[in-house]
Amino acid sequence: MSAQPPAAERRRHTDVVPAISVITPTFNEAENIPELVRSIHASLNGIPHEIIVSDDDSPDETWKVAETLAESDESLRVIRRFHDPGLSSAVLDGMATARSDVLAVIDADLQHDPAILPDMYSRIASGELDVVVGSRSTAGGGYGDWSWHRRFVSWVATLIARLLLRVPVSDPMSGYFAVSRAAYEKTAPDINPKGFKILLEFVGRNRNLRIGEIGYEFSNRLHGETKLNRSVIRSYLLGVAELRVGRQVNPAFLLYVLVGIAGLLVNSAVFTLLEALNFPEVNTGLNKAIDPISGSFLVSVQVSILVLFILNNEFTFWEHRYRGFALAPAFGVYWVMSLIGTGIHVAVFTSLQNIGFLLNVLGEGPSRVAQNLIGATIALVVNWYLNTTYLWRRRQV
Ligand code: GDD
Ligand code: MN
Repeated sequence: MSAQPPAAERRRHTDVVPAISVITPTFNEAENIPELVRSIHASLNGIPHEIIVSDDDSPDETWKVAETLAESDESLRVIRRFHDPGLSSAVLDGMATARSDVLAVIDADLQHDPAILPDMYSRIASGELDVVVGSRSTAGGGYGDWSWHRRFVSWVATLIARLLLRVPVSDPMSGYFAVSRAAYEKTAPDINPKGFKILLEFVGRNRNLRIGEIGYEFSNRLHGETKLNRSVIRSYLLGVAELRVGRQVNPAFLLYVLVGIAGLLVNSAVFTLLEALNFPEVNTGLNKAIDPISGSFLVSVQVSILVLFILNNEFTFWEHRYRGFALAPAFGVYWVMSLIGTGIHVAVFTSLQNIGFLLNVLGEGPSRVAQNLIGATIALVVNWYLNTTYLWRRRQV
């Protein structure tokens, strides 16, 4: 006998051992719970199962609705959580208390079709697979009436996961999946409980899992509204970055670099365009040594400062972002910091132009676009320091 008797412990208090535990994370889903429970029972008719509602003390009292139902439904259990709110940690808590050898996760709003639960169950119970993903992107799957915009975002996110993490899943953002107890116990200790991409955590942390997919059609939400706001994309990218490079690298810096690259592209595009249009030189009257300055350069820098501020505020430093009236002074500070960066940018740009003559003697010197890029890159690193120290402070969260 093994030293640890988990199965016996888990099963001691029950008459019928459930074959599958269906965990549903909830936040303000009171209206959806009765229908959800009904349809899971209907789908798993004949397979002993338990349903675990893992609720974050919802203001709409989802937990209470579920507890009332549980009075006359032995297979329903409710966790009312008061700490560490969040989708992934709610799922992990549900899994920790589940008793079955197959653990499934399903959204409470009936966007995930419970009809495929028996299929998910049997493919794990048979020992064929460790993880089964309910997928919108595989045969039999679909995104329902999602707009092209949401489909595109989802497509990009999936591509990123597939390219960077090489996960063999067509729908890695899916919140609908089942996992074997063995795979859960092996993988759970490594999982980051923050965020919402719990499936990605499983398949990204454990490379030895046998993964399969079953298609399903994503439905519209029955009642209520989505809790996943704009920051999902950001949180998703951070999650992918963490899975890729580990927890040592400051993930916000990775986002900053990403935004910086976008800024460089904007800068180069505007610069190239204005150069092509023969944009006039500008005489600032400030310094004979640097006058006249390329007008294309001046304008492209202003445009990229504005774009960078917006992207950093809305994306990189989202948790600390400025809103409403605070935006103007924040942009003012950002602009001054960017001037410092621009000073460095100009210095590098002009000195590269001056030594360009020398390099041209030896061979082909860097083009104006390349000189511009090198200057901007150095400025970007200096600005990271200024931004995180004085503007979007690294508050302790
Ligand atoms: N306990 C708990 N705590 N549950 C939460 C929380 C939370 O902080 N946030 C969301 N939930 C629950 C919701 O109540 C719902 O049952 C489920 O998690 C999914 O949340 P939705 O708000 O319905 O998300 P969605 O429909 O926008 O997103 C779906 O698609 C994403 C990818 O496209 C979900 O399936 C996501 O998991 C998926 O990544
Ligand atoms: Mn939903």
